[in-house]
Amino acid sequence: MSLEKFETIYAENNNIPWDDDLPPPELITTASTLDAGRFLDIGCGYGRAAIYLAKRDWKCVGVDFVESAIVEAKRRATAANVTPDFHQGDVTNLDFLQKPFDLILDVGCLHGISAASRAAYAKEITRLAQPNAWYLLFARLWENPHAPPPSGASGISEGVLKGLFEPAFTLAHVEYGETVVSEGDPWQSAWYWWQKVDNN
Ligand SMILES: C[S@@+](CC[C@H](N)C(=O)[O-])C[C@H]1O[C@@H](n2cnc3c(N)ncnc32)[C@H](O)[C@@H]1O
Repeated sequence: MSLEKFETIYAENNNIPWDDDLPPPELITTASTLDAGRFLDIGCGYGRAAIYLAKRDWKCVGVDFVESAIVEAKRRATAANVTPDFHQGDVTNLDFLQKPFDLILDVGCLHGISAASRAAYAKEITRLAQPNAWYLLFARLWENPHAPPPSGASGISEGVLKGLFEPAFTLAHVEYGETVVSEGDPWQSAWYWWQKVDNN
């Protein structure tokens, strides 16, 4: 989805579907098995994941292209007495970030990025993840190769995901499910646990 569409959602919607206090349980569980390290939230929104992990001694960075989301993420971090680095920027160009990250999260960002920009996104994730790092992705699945998602809707196929991230990452685990947003129709979704290949 475009920057303008996300700006409209943040500007007009008092009930943003992903505006929870806690990050998704998949992130909480995964991080609990790891030593605190550097965490990157791709499309961080109001920063719930970075704030949660910053409270648990992770060094956290969040990037989102909507200015008002980043302003609110910083406000919430200050209120929580933690100091993640929140940046307004496009996740297809993260030149301003230095590797390595131990854990990277994307909740609903990649599946809305245009097909033309996905390779740039994957290049950045691959550059920033250190060997054995985890890249945890939640995406809407769209498996019809002959028809793109309806106008304005998000979706990506598993085949496209594998083309973007293999062989730099190994797909360690997938959990398929159905997601309902704001009482709309359910859609197919999945959580992906990718691990960066250790080249040593
Ligand atoms: C479904 S929301 C999830 C927000 C956050 N990850 C959470 O779970 O609370 C997706 C977020 O990705 C951001 N986003 C989408 N495309 C982006 C891009 N190309 N660059 C930076 N942020 C992007 C949107 O502004 C939005 O905040």
